[in-house]
Amino acid sequence: MDQTILDVRRLRVAYKGYPAVNDVSFHIDRGEILGVVGESGCGKSLAALTLMGLQPNVMKASGDVVFRGKNLLENRDADWMKVRGEGIAMIFQEPMTALNPVVTVGDQIAEMFELHRGSNKAEAAERAVEMLERVHIPDPMRRAKAFPHELSGGMRQRVMIAMALACEPELIIADEPTTALDVTVQAQVLDLLEELRDSTGTAVQFISHNLGVVSQLAERVIVMYAGRIVEQATSEELFANPQHPYTQGLLATLPRIGGARDVLPAIPGAVPPLDQRGSGCPFVDRCNKASPTCVAMMPETVALNDIHSVACHHL
Ligand SMILES: Nc1ncnc2c1ncn2[C@@H]1O[C@H](COP(=O)(O)OP(=O)(O)O)[C@@H](O)[C@H]1O
Ligand code: SF4
Ligand SMILES: [Mg+2]
Repeated sequence: MDQTILDVRRLRVAYKGYPAVNDVSFHIDRGEILGVVGESGCGKSLAALTLMGLQPNVMKASGDVVFRGKNLLENRDADWMKVRGEGIAMIFQEPMTALNPVVTVGDQIAEMFELHRGSNKAEAAERAVEMLERVHIPDPMRRAKAFPHELSGGMRQRVMIAMALACEPELIIADEPTTALDVTVQAQVLDLLEELRDSTGTAVQFISHNLGVVSQLAERVIVMYAGRIVEQATSEELFANPQHPYTQGLLATLPRIGGARDVLPAIPGAVPPLDQRGSGCPFVDRCNKASPTCVAMMPETVALNDIHSVACHHL
């Protein structure tokens, strides 16, 4: 059986001709947790939304997004409904924007079963409570009757995960799902995602600006900068042997056990806006190794070995 469930090739998503996602290629294997990391504005969310056909109308997407052997970028609306219903599910940073405030969480999960799995009302209600139990919401019978605002942020994120799982997707895209949560609740949600991956075999694309969080969960990590993938490796390899100056910068900003928290070095400078990205290396303005070659030419992506590739002129 083919291990790859999603194969993205040369994805480009542009706003008025300016690419916000540029030449992005990666794959996700069945049951794998893939991390995507990069600062705000690097194109992580836009790339993810495009995988579900949810990019803003003003954005033009090209390249291939092959899921179950089919290029999704050729989809019509009806095809997208099917992908979103039972192929790929997405959870976001702020569940309140995705949940309906005037419908109980039990009814919202039940609706997924009615719409996508053909359950009748009674059966769907029962399965909704089972899902709440599965995502470890205490007293699920009672909580099913709660409205979203009656639950804590962590509980609401669990409800979102339950809704995503109700469709039995092959891939869950989680876009900064723990960023709004405090550290303890964040750890619980990460544990839950891993547990559910282990029990259901669903693959997870986990997006975060925090390399520490990403590497806790993901087996493999993609590092994005200014719309491009600059480095890809297993989590272990990325920590032990980071090659791209941007990845090295992200690692240097992580708090260390016993280290002083308030003196963490930030990477100086900022991600350039879409219309100010030149034809050379996207990181050139902020890189202490930059040379004239870096200004003039885009570095090619080089595979260092089976599990590690990087795009930089000066390794
Ligand atoms: N609707 C939009 N219109 C114009 N530009 C957008 C829109 N959505 C995102 N962008 C731009 O695309 C780039 C990538 O954004 P995004 O994918 O949200 O980054 P990330 O998730 O990594 O923080 C940013 O420069 C952002 O300003
Ligand atoms: S290509 Fe040059 S500017 Fe870009 S990351 Fe490598 S050394 Fe730095
Ligand atoms: Mg984002």
